[in-house]
Amino acid sequence: MPLMPWTEDLSVGVEELDADHRQLFAMVNALFDAVEGGSSGDLLAAFFDALVDYTRDHFAREEALMAACHYPGLPSHRMEHFQLAERGHQLRGQFLLGDAEPVSRDLLGLFNGWLTTHIRITDGAYIGCVGVGAAGN
Ligand SMILES: [Fe+2]
Repeated sequence: MPLMPWTEDLSVGVEELDADHRQLFAMVNALFDAVEGGSSGDLLAAFFDALVDYTRDHFAREEALMAACHYPGLPSHRMEHFQLAERGHQLRGQFLLGDAEPVSRDLLGLFNGWLTTHIRITDGAYIGCVGVGAAGN
């Protein structure tokens, strides 16, 4: 069973962002499987870095769409993204010091608590702005 199963009620109604979110869940689950399977530090590093990097890229895409519709909640939303990204980078630093398995579990714990809540509440608040009138209205 995946650590974080995707469910359709997590949709924000924008296919590009739903696809990003599904990918994030898949990457969390891949790291979880690698940890549970006793994978090597090199493999954990690959999954760990991919998740942190993809998260940064996703945040940039999401923030660009919020900016495009002049979403008033963008500053506080961006701050939530920044705080999660900062924590991810801190854990990456710890990972590089050699604590691959426990730090990977810390990253999984961070995402498992944060991501679903963020999508439901903070991302859910931009529904009706982001993705509406994207054809140039
Ligand atoms: Fe977000």
